[in-house]
Amino acid sequence: MDAAALPRRDDTRVAVIGLGYVGLPLAVGFGRHLPTLGFDINQARIAELREHRDHTLEVSTEELKATPQLRFSADAGDLKACNVFIVTVPTPIDDAKRPDLTPLVSASRTVGRAIGRGAVVVFESTVYPGATEEVCVPIIERESGLKYNVDFYAGYSPERINPGDKEHRLETILKVTSGSTPEAADFVDALYRRVVTAGTHKASSIRVAEAAKVIENTQRDLNIALINELALIFHRLGIDTAEVLAAAGTKWNFLPFRPGLVGGHCIGVDPYYLTHKAQQIGYHPEVILSGRRINDGMGQHVAQRVIKLMTQRRIHAAGANILVLGLAFKENCPDLRNTRVTDVVGEFRSYHANVDVHDPWVSAEEARHEYGLDLVPELVPGTYDAVILAVAHRQFLELGAERIRAFGKPGCVLFDVKQALPRELVDDRL
Ligand SMILES: NC(=O)c1ccc[n+]([C@@H]2O[C@H](COP(=O)([O-])OP(=O)(O)OC[C@H]3O[C@@H](n4cnc5c(N)ncnc54)[C@H](O)[C@@H]3O)[C@@H](O)[C@H]2O)c1
Repeated sequence: MDAAALPRRDDTRVAVIGLGYVGLPLAVGFGRHLPTLGFDINQARIAELREHRDHTLEVSTEELKATPQLRFSADAGDLKACNVFIVTVPTPIDDAKRPDLTPLVSASRTVGRAIGRGAVVVFESTVYPGATEEVCVPIIERESGLKYNVDFYAGYSPERINPGDKEHRLETILKVTSGSTPEAADFVDALYRRVVTAGTHKASSIRVAEAAKVIENTQRDLNIALINELALIFHRLGIDTAEVLAAAGTKWNFLPFRPGLVGGHCIGVDPYYLTHKAQQIGYHPEVILSGRRINDGMGQHVAQRVIKLMTQRRIHAAGANILVLGLAFKENCPDLRNTRVTDVVGEFRSYHANVDVHDPWVSAEEARHEYGLDLVPELVPGTYDAVILAVAHRQFLELGAERIRAFGKPGCVLFDVKQALPRELVDDRL
């Protein structure tokens, strides 16, 4: 049988599968130009979006109202009307830090049941090189009875958005595209050019595009790991890391990375996708995994430094009251996924300290559900033996070091994980 024709430009009906931080802005982007169906298995998510509310705060109510070609559904039957499927489901790791492809497998099944001849499936979820064609495509073939690159086509176009970042948006970030045949690659590239004004980079294959995404975050993870290791060394040497970085940063090609907790579901997770694939083919990565180990140890390091400062002031860790400011994995965003602030909290608790966590951005219900943490909604001055600025939310910076310190008792320890407060007003910083 002849290879099926790709969708016509004037008859492109897009489905976006998985309406999270990545999928929703994408669905809105396409919904401005093309008939678009936003699909999610989470009924509550569909209900809020139908009421023009987005709890991830990536898309405003006005934007949702101003996208007339976008519909939302939790009914997989509605997908049958579409001829382009874009998959943006999560790709987490399991407890053993191995890729957990469950959502991707399940979304591929859903697409396989809805897809017709000539359709194109584009994956955006971050994976290891080969996952699209080795894992997802065979599932779609099996479920649909259709043949890859004869009856349907695939593409991979990694997402680069940054939660909470209002400047780098879908439209303004250059997007990498790829396709399973030269014609499919042209189709996918032209599709994204309709919404991404910054333009596209057409990679030579799906595997190249997959690899490009995973190394973007691996490179970032490793650069931060190097700075974290420097912070561990400089602490032992009694040198302030931020001052060293400010001095070294005056050189034109010194990269401006900072030490810190590496959380979120991207930078601290994606390298494990690459190392998993490497191990599968008999290569045991050393540099990538050692960087991961350094970054994963930073929460414990922060807590231990605070406990040392407390002990030097004759404050016992056991029974001490400690305030941690911020739980989100980064500033000015409600995203709690894989936040490493929990490592700081866990280490304090292992000393039997009482830890209060305050974060005006995150949902108290989600903090309880995900981490068993009861957030403290209001802070009472003069309460704590130690205060840790863990996330540099706007509200904390507006308070300033003196008012933050005032939540503590006289003589309390104030530690600045983010190097966000004036050095002379804190007791120590990373
Ligand atoms: N958030 C980011 O900044 C970012 C940036 C670049 C790439 N990515 C990658 O994009 C992917 C999605 O990330 P996200 O942050 O949008 O995740 P998310 O957790 O915010 O959203 C995922 C959505 O998919 C839905 N979902 C799960 N399984 C599904 C299924 N089988 N069918 C339909 N819907 C399903 C969930 O209900 C949820 O609404 C991941 O692979 C991630 O690594 C994320």
